[in-house]
Amino acid sequence: MMLLKQIKEVRKLVKSWRKEGLTVGYVPTMGALHEGHESLIKRAVAENDRVIVSVFVNPTQFGPNEDYDAYPRNIDKDMQLCMNAGAVAVFNPEPEEMYFDDKSTSVSVSGLTDVLCGAKRPGHFNGVCLIVSKFLNIVTPDKAYFGQKDAQQVAVIKRMVRDLNIDVEIIPCPIIREEDGLAKSSRNTYLSYEERKAALVLSRILQMVRKELDNGERDANKLREMIAEELNKEPLAKIDYVEIVDSDSLKHVEVIERSILVPIAVYIGKTRLIDNFIYEL
Ligand code: PAJ
Repeated sequence: MMLLKQIKEVRKLVKSWRKEGLTVGYVPTMGALHEGHESLIKRAVAENDRVIVSVFVNPTQFGPNEDYDAYPRNIDKDMQLCMNAGAVAVFNPEPEEMYFDDKSTSVSVSGLTDVLCGAKRPGHFNGVCLIVSKFLNIVTPDKAYFGQKDAQQVAVIKRMVRDLNIDVEIIPCPIIREEDGLAKSSRNTYLSYEERKAALVLSRILQMVRKELDNGERDANKLREMIAEELNKEPLAKIDYVEIVDSDSLKHVEVIERSILVPIAVYIGKTRLIDNFIYEL
């Protein structure tokens, strides 16, 4: 298992793999790894000859009042998880390795980022796009793996890769949950005992919505109202957004006629949690 700190080490390693004709899978992460990340790594291991994972808490995707400093960091534990899952290298650069003081280039995907988390976290996706495009340029993988947990991120990265002709296949992977339904997240560690119980409201509501859709409900406003009503019953929960959008364009939907994404973002105490599902029609 290799721990790489420098860009030039990554380039050298990947070049040596390429010389041997090996395929390369890549999983970008911010660390504090859990079974959600692990599922991405295992999928990458199954589909590629070599897998590299990056662990980097990316400062440019956090807002000024967000949790950049508090974000959990534990590289030893992360290395162990990556090794057990079958990755051969972890790239864990310092911020100074990734960003020049006078950096002048931005990467911004318009439209798709004006809604949902993009609307609530101004600049967030510019930071994500900048760091992911840099990592893709450094690692040059055949395939890169992203979780549907961050459904908007998948849509934005796919669009960026298409628009910039980056030679990589983006592989979306399903959401991994705790046994009781809560989507796994590095931020779940912030939750107190009471908040952890309250956080179940997200997955419970999404299941209710799925049932309504199965029963033939096609009025998106009715469903949005139902979600808001249920969320408001949980005293520890504060809605950030509740939406029903087209799963490709992420545009607001009134009548459900094709595949939709149902994303919600909720504060449980001070912790912002997101969850979603895609309903195929
Ligand atoms: P991070 O939040 O660490 O997530 C890394 C990857 O793991 C993302 O693709 C995310 O969607 C996926 N993931 C997280 N929880 C998951 C779960 N419960 N089930 C399935 N997949 C899950 O997303 C980021 O980091 C950053 O924005 C990054 C892409 C690394 C750029 O900095």
